[in-house]
Amino acid sequence: MFDMSKNPQRPRKVRLWRKNKSFIYNLHPPQIPASSARLTYTFGLGGIAVLTALIAVLTGALLMFYYEPTMQDAHASLVLIDSVVHLGRFTRALHYWSAQGMVVAVALHIARVVFSGGYRPPRDFNWFVGLGLLVVTLVWDFSGYVLRFDASSIWALLVGTNLLKELPGAGHTLYLLVVGDQTLGPSAALRFYAWHVFGLTLLGVGGIIYHVWRIRVDGGISCPERTPGRPRRFVPRETLFFREVIAALLVTSGLVLLSVFAPPPLGPPADLNRAGSEPVLAPWFFLAIQRLLRHLPPLWGGWIVPLAGLALLAALPLLDRRGPGRGRWFARERWKPQVAFGGLLLLVIVLSLIEWLGS
Ligand code: HEM
Repeated sequence: MFDMSKNPQRPRKVRLWRKNKSFIYNLHPPQIPASSARLTYTFGLGGIAVLTALIAVLTGALLMFYYEPTMQDAHASLVLIDSVVHLGRFTRALHYWSAQGMVVAVALHIARVVFSGGYRPPRDFNWFVGLGLLVVTLVWDFSGYVLRFDASSIWALLVGTNLLKELPGAGHTLYLLVVGDQTLGPSAALRFYAWHVFGLTLLGVGGIIYHVWRIRVDGGISCPERTPGRPRRFVPRETLFFREVIAALLVTSGLVLLSVFAPPPLGPPADLNRAGSEPVLAPWFFLAIQRLLRHLPPLWGGWIVPLAGLALLAALPLLDRRGPGRGRWFARERWKPQVAFGGLLLLVIVLSLIEWLGS
């Protein structure tokens, strides 16, 4: 009789779980070198970014039960969530703080990867994936900010969507894709909501899963230098898992405390006719761009300069021609990418501070 299992033409089963080879197996390492697991090497920042994203997605799903994605009712539904819904204010605050925490964790994570040299081959491809995640994280957060439909977020919506039109060639199509109409109207609220809860969530969650899977495929987290003569030690899965649970509990407790004592902002309801008549601040992670837009034409301030910054980040692995090697914080021989990154970071911080203090 014909034996199917021996047929070479038979397609191989895609396995979600198979030791060493499967997709899920590669999401979490069975053991990692003790030097890579040291808290002072990664500060657990990538893991914190995963955790904050997870909390934001879960609390966002809860908010969907009460949020109204229309321009007239969005703001009122948030007031309702804050004041009437059981644990509504807490859930909204946890959603807000986990999203802010994610932006901070991602920014610090990039800095740690640059200053410890984790972007070098074979991890250079994952560096580019990470840059994609950076953009998705910022736009994801921005789209959530707009969903408040209060006086300042409507201004950000106007500026952000008008910037889309400035992009030569693709601008108009991009505007229609995001806004859904020739002008900013009721359909924009629904589109932004769909992007926030579906489009960007899909990109963000899918991107994070791929990024984390790719770390294992690239040979695990880059290994710091070993003391010569010392045997290599490994931290087993159980110990690693235990540490991760403790770190997750600590970070979650911090976010819970913040959510209890610092409610998320919500200004007066938006009035499209008055948008832009009062001075308002962009979300904190876009303050630098807001400053640029005060001095440069929209195409330069909103696209060319920020894209040049992103291109500089993308080029960092090219500034370090030494190829693979052990990870080390602030290695002198890798000064070029560190100085380039430090300069860019300083520029963003200074521009943001000027905008914040000058407002
Ligand atoms: C949503 C955002 C992100 C998440 C959830 C995430 C998650 C992680 C995790 C869990 C690790 C391993 C442990 C660690 O380094 O802490 C890691 C490593 C890495 N990430 Fe990310 N990351 C994100 C964004 C980024 C960004 C924006 C970049 C760079 C532009 C980046 C580049 C890398 C690289 C190159 C590694 C390997 C570093 C090494 O082996 O030393 N990641 N990421």
